[in-house]
Amino acid sequence: MSTPFRWGLLGAGDVARHFGVSAKLLPGHQIAAVASRRRERAEATAAALGGAMALTDFTELVADPSVDAVYVATPAALHCDHVALALEAGKPVLCEKPFTVTADEARELAALAGKTGTFLMEAMWTRFIPAIQALKTRVDAGEIGEPRMFQADLGFAVPYDPSNRFFAPELGGGALLDLGIYPLSLAWYLLGPPEAGQMLVGKANNGVDARASMVLRFPGGALAALSCSFDQRLSNRAVLSGTRGSLALDSPLYAPERITLTRAPELVPSTASGAAAPGTMSRFATQPKLIRLRRRYAPLLRQLLRRERVTQSYPFPGHGYQFEASEVATCVRAGRRESAVMPLDETVAILECLETLRTSGSFGVLDQNVSSLA
Ligand SMILES: NC(=O)c1ccc[n+]([C@@H]2O[C@H](COP(=O)([O-])OP(=O)(O)OC[C@H]3O[C@@H](n4cnc5c(N)ncnc54)[C@H](OP(=O)(O)O)[C@@H]3O)[C@@H](O)[C@H]2O)c1
Repeated sequence: MSTPFRWGLLGAGDVARHFGVSAKLLPGHQIAAVASRRRERAEATAAALGGAMALTDFTELVADPSVDAVYVATPAALHCDHVALALEAGKPVLCEKPFTVTADEARELAALAGKTGTFLMEAMWTRFIPAIQALKTRVDAGEIGEPRMFQADLGFAVPYDPSNRFFAPELGGGALLDLGIYPLSLAWYLLGPPEAGQMLVGKANNGVDARASMVLRFPGGALAALSCSFDQRLSNRAVLSGTRGSLALDSPLYAPERITLTRAPELVPSTASGAAAPGTMSRFATQPKLIRLRRRYAPLLRQLLRRERVTQSYPFPGHGYQFEASEVATCVRAGRRESAVMPLDETVAILECLETLRTSGSFGVLDQNVSSLA
């Protein structure tokens, strides 16, 4: 049997519990200890995870020799202190999203991990979900041609309460840090760093962002339109469209289990006058009855003849945090200090981008001659 990989959970909320349940799905992964400020909460979470050690002192948790890696699952405004505590104790760290509230804090932690020579990764679990890994492989292989437009949104109705972590600024509240980070990180993973962007925000009564929409442009001209909201449920889906088709992720985009590929219809060559050359179908397109039949049956016919749309499933058990947990164990065992899938410089750059958009509303040169994209 392989040596166990033993986790210490710093934080004992719902998210820590979900992570613990997920990690235990992996062969050899164990939850060694759980820490909360409150003994009863630490004990309840430890018991739910099969009898891990329950602690009330975070320093004790990070120093415990039975802990191989620390998972930080406290509110975002505390991540900087809690990650630093674990790194200084020499423990590899997986830290919940958003990694930190400010880009400065993220840079500070990346520097500390470098100084201590310790593994550190943002728990952007979405990147490790099998459907997202498959999506990335298919996009990189050119299955939809050149990516041109990424649309993604994530929103839930969260009752307004300025004291909870969703809205409290002192706990790192706001829809952008809590939800917007998912579509932004996904866009970055698929398309790389954006060269320009613009954002509009709607605020809650206490001034934190309750909803936001941003548009980003990437080198090569692809655009991303991303939204997040605490006001209402959104579609929670994502679609990446390219020159030869599109790939759509089922809801929820942070842990999808299905991808649908839609092949783009071939482009109709234009005539010299700029109008499309008349095809057999368009010759019948003057009769209302035929127009209606065509509208109704053409998609079905195309689907039957060309298999224009194909859905593939990538099911997984449990919550889905097990894939990031597995990545941490693989990296730590291989002596790596970062994950190639979620590298630290990307975590820092994404928070820098979000911070610039929040403070300035835009970055980069906003207009571009689209004819250069043809
Ligand atoms: N990956 C995902 O799908 C996902 C989803 C939602 C949220 N998140 C992230 O996961 C993290 C935890 O979320 P959650 O909903 O589980 O949070 P939570 O229940 O509000 O808090 C989690 C833990 O943090 C501790 N804590 C709260 N305030 C503290 C303070 N001032 N000092 C020390 N400890 C404090 C709590 O301590 P006590 O036990 O002592 O009360 C609790 O154990 C957040 O960063 C969030 O953004 C991730």
